[in-house]
Amino acid sequence: MKAVAVLPGKKGSIHLADLPEPKVEDVPDGRGVLVEVLRVGVDGTDKEIADAEYGAAPEGYDFLVMGHESFGRVLEVGPNVRDIAPGDYVVATVRRPGSSIYDRIGLSDVTTDETYRERGINLLHGYLTERYVDDAEFIVRVPDALNEVGVLLEPTSIVEKGIEQAYEIQRRLKVWRPLRAAVVGAGTLGLLATLALRLRGLVEVTTLARTAPPTINSELVEALGVRYLSTREVPLSEAAEEYGPFDIIFEATGASVVAFEAMEALGRNGVLVLTGISGGNREIKVPGDRIMLGFVLGNKVAVGSVNANRSYFETGVRDMALAEARYPGWLGRLLTHPVQGLENYAEMIRLLTGERDAIKVFVEVK
Ligand code: BGC
Ligand code: ZN
Repeated sequence: MKAVAVLPGKKGSIHLADLPEPKVEDVPDGRGVLVEVLRVGVDGTDKEIADAEYGAAPEGYDFLVMGHESFGRVLEVGPNVRDIAPGDYVVATVRRPGSSIYDRIGLSDVTTDETYRERGINLLHGYLTERYVDDAEFIVRVPDALNEVGVLLEPTSIVEKGIEQAYEIQRRLKVWRPLRAAVVGAGTLGLLATLALRLRGLVEVTTLARTAPPTINSELVEALGVRYLSTREVPLSEAAEEYGPFDIIFEATGASVVAFEAMEALGRNGVLVLTGISGGNREIKVPGDRIMLGFVLGNKVAVGSVNANRSYFETGVRDMALAEARYPGWLGRLLTHPVQGLENYAEMIRLLTGERDAIKVFVEVK
């Protein structure tokens, strides 16, 4: 069976690997779900894996099968699987439990383990292949009506977790009612965060990104009734004066400069959610005293958020369904760049690294 793989740590090593056929019996206790892969999306993490900056092969292999944004259809289930049946559309979660106390209660997304296992990223093969098998616990059903956009569920789950974290934290304030939100970044995550905030009832949302409008991204933002600003024209600090104070800022750029700008732009009692994964070692100059003073005197919070457990995938399904009802066709417009077949992995990488107006690049596996 074909799979798109890399030799972790070796740049330019992307190739087609051969994997043995998975079987429902590979999963213990009759809990296996065998899935035929239909589509797989790729993102910045895949770019880093292909660039040999991230990722590790599973034990016993020198290669890692890529792909963590899956969408597929169930072929077969083990005898102890009741809530999933052949023919169902499904998405699999990414991280698998480790050994911390959080992992033991189903919250591997907040593990304190040093190393974590993530399918398609770290120590476990991913979904850029023809079929996979996994425990029913990690398989989330997607209603048939969402089959055209189901491949967006994994990135949606990341956004749902980030926003849920913010609301959980803000319960400290007893009567927190966010009115104004800012999203920084208008790639897949920024767009989905803009959507999720609108669906939560936030009326005044401002989404900022570098590129000057009009772009597909700015049009998608505006289609949600949200203001789009280019940070080249209106920096975040100015946007905060004009359209703030921001009760919540969702960062989805991965640029550390933006994280600190957002700390300053955040309103009193506000919460900043950081989700962008920064490159690594860049050093920047920041007005530390001013930021600290603002945080203390303004009772502000900043929280980092990574990965998502099953519950956020489920919230994601509900939000995607709501999105199709309120903004019909909007989600589908994010799927800008399809790649036909696993064998076209070179095209996948080319689009992922070089195509400026790509929002979501995804492989049509079948
Ligand atoms: C994935 C997450 C993962 C993170 C860190 C992201 O691209 O969507 O599931 O936890 O990378 O590896
Ligand atoms: Zn990802």
